[in-house]
Amino acid sequence: MKLNCAIVGATGAVGQEILHLLEQKDFPLHSLRCFASPASAGKKVVFKSREIPIEQLSEKSFEDIDLAFFAAGKEVSKKYIPLALESGAYVIDSSSAFRKDPSIPLIIPEINPHHIEDARLISSPNCTASIMLMVLAPLHKKYPIKRIIASTYQAFSGAGLKEMEKLKNETLHYLTEQKPSSYAFNLFLHPSQMGADDYVEEEKKMIEETHKILGDPTIAISATCVRVPILRVHALSLNVEFAEKMSKEEALSLLASAPGIEYLENPTPARVAGKENVCYGRIRKDLSHPNTLEFWVLGDQLLKGAALNAVQIGEHLWHSRLRWAQKRPIFH
Ligand SMILES: NC(=O)c1ccc[n+]([C@@H]2O[C@H](COP(=O)([O-])OP(=O)(O)OC[C@H]3O[C@@H](n4cnc5c(N)ncnc54)[C@H](OP(=O)(O)O)[C@@H]3O)[C@@H](O)[C@H]2O)c1
Repeated sequence: MKLNCAIVGATGAVGQEILHLLEQKDFPLHSLRCFASPASAGKKVVFKSREIPIEQLSEKSFEDIDLAFFAAGKEVSKKYIPLALESGAYVIDSSSAFRKDPSIPLIIPEINPHHIEDARLISSPNCTASIMLMVLAPLHKKYPIKRIIASTYQAFSGAGLKEMEKLKNETLHYLTEQKPSSYAFNLFLHPSQMGADDYVEEEKKMIEETHKILGDPTIAISATCVRVPILRVHALSLNVEFAEKMSKEEALSLLASAPGIEYLENPTPARVAGKENVCYGRIRKDLSHPNTLEFWVLGDQLLKGAALNAVQIGEHLWHSRLRWAQKRPIFH
């Protein structure tokens, strides 16, 4: 008794990682269908040594699907998720389409699995917010956080496969032909939409999604998000003020027993790429402000910030709900 699953966006940066993880983790699959844009229809992906055709997404794609992973952008999610739900599927969405909706749970399984309740649509959070919260949520439980100041160094894979290719090509052309480039050996403010308050969308997501996941809108948060010319792994410098004094040693001890994270001496993107765990290092007291610690946190955001989190939500649903369901549309 296993699940008929679908990946929407199976050819993309996140979709390909979902595919690898379903394979590696031996997810309880009865069948797997892969969807992408019309441009990819007819291509194939390899799963467990078998070729699976890429299909063009349509209104009928979700008949017989029990669980659909969406990783194709928010417009695709807005249009097709209602159809998938209508067909009886459970949906895990990596896009931002429904994250702000108070009726849709926004889940990091290590932090707030209880928010899922009986939902059939579950949103997976923004990659930068996820990486930050994997380290801060275990501390917040014991020492409530008053204020976070975050500065990010975000990889190009955060913008998808095409942007990764563009960084590689521009770097090559810069080195071989001295062709000017805004990507190679450069960095820039996160290019998401600027709001009337002078914060870009990515910065607002870090603020709003933290409040929703921790269930605490009182935490003061400011963020500055920057794209840096690396392919994988987002890095975050976090200045965190707690309501009470917490020593560096206490923070390290609380984090040592938290799931999904690990301490690394001097973590770098090169060391963290491909790791499922979010890594932290260089915790120190902020000498300029009381009750405040500095953190250096890195995570492969294609994994814990997107694909891994989505697959873990799927595993949670399987163990808590889907495997106990009595009859179709859930079972095969
Ligand atoms: N990248 C990250 O680190 C990250 C982290 C968290 C959340 N997310 C979210 O995850 C989603 C996917 O991001 P990504 O980085 O994987 O992007 P991506 O590499 O650009 O991949 C986009 C995928 O969507 C497919 N697609 C585009 N238009 C479609 C359509 N009309 N119908 C069906 N499929 C369509 C593409 O198919 P083709 O190959 O045929 O074009 C491709 O498979 C986005 O919502 C993003 O915000 C990404």
